[in-house]
Amino acid sequence: MTVTVQHIPVMAREVEGLLNLGAGSVYVDCTLGLGGHASLAAGIIGAKGRIVGIDQDADAIAHAHRRLSGFVGQLDIVKSNFGDIDVVLDRLGIMEVDGVLLDLGVSSLQLDDASRGFSYREEALLDMRMDKDAQFSATELVNSLPEEELADLIWRLGEERFSRRIARNIVAARSARAIKTTKELSDLVLRSLPRGYQRGALHPATRTFQALRMAVNRELEVLKKALDTAPRYLKIGGRLVVIAFHSLEDRIVKEKFKELARSGSAKILTKKPLRPGDEEVIGNPRSRSARLRALERIV
Ligand SMILES: C[S@@+](CC[C@H](N)C(=O)[O-])C[C@H]1O[C@@H](n2cnc3c(N)ncnc32)[C@H](O)[C@@H]1O
Repeated sequence: MTVTVQHIPVMAREVEGLLNLGAGSVYVDCTLGLGGHASLAAGIIGAKGRIVGIDQDADAIAHAHRRLSGFVGQLDIVKSNFGDIDVVLDRLGIMEVDGVLLDLGVSSLQLDDASRGFSYREEALLDMRMDKDAQFSATELVNSLPEEELADLIWRLGEERFSRRIARNIVAARSARAIKTTKELSDLVLRSLPRGYQRGALHPATRTFQALRMAVNRELEVLKKALDTAPRYLKIGGRLVVIAFHSLEDRIVKEKFKELARSGSAKILTKKPLRPGDEEVIGNPRSRSARLRALERIV
């Protein structure tokens, strides 16, 4: 098993410009990952600055600790769900921050480590939990959800037009024997699609796997929760930057930002979501679906 422990921070230049941190700033990285964005922030905020790094994945936390070991300011790395950002900040006694970043989705560490069961590319137990302590993995979901719920989930979160066929085949297969591995599921998806069916460059199982991952980690639900609380901790002039990789996530961010702007408490800094440039996408294909939005607290 090869684990590539490199994660190229997505849209780093845009994040830096929009977060607008300076020496001594307090920065909350809600998706610490391998500490890519956080280490760039560390270089800006310096010895008088403070970083709070949150991630629900213990492996990411260990890597980020190493990556940020040279940071001379105050550093708190917390294993938690960013849906609980209020609990984390309250516990640390932090009332106001200059910048918050949410760089959503999975990291290269999670995708490239076959044993985490996120990828259809390699054989592994079907897991997909970002937090290994979480109760339900993709195996439980795939083997227990009623057919209709499974189809809806694959349709809604994966935008997979053959969701009904896939769900029907999952239910038929599991009635003989539980589906336990990434390969079993990906073969089953392939068998469910019309022969010769290919969606551009995407592997045919991509959408089904994405849908299951989002459901296992309750990604839309916790995003809403974080967006309800994080803006309250911004100083006046403080910034919130969110990078979404899925249209449903981006819609949630867009609607929440509009609501905050309407209330008069914040202004939207990105009229339209920013997208990575061609050069970035070539260098880091995982950035291709990124959409970045930013907001500033004004009162
Ligand atoms: C795209 S990576 C972040 C990469 C990071 N910005 C960097 O430059 O290294 C997303 C990270 O967020 C974490 N994550 C995703 N959803 C989370 C949540 N609800 N709570 C806490 N961490 C989460 C994942 O475990 C993953 O490590």
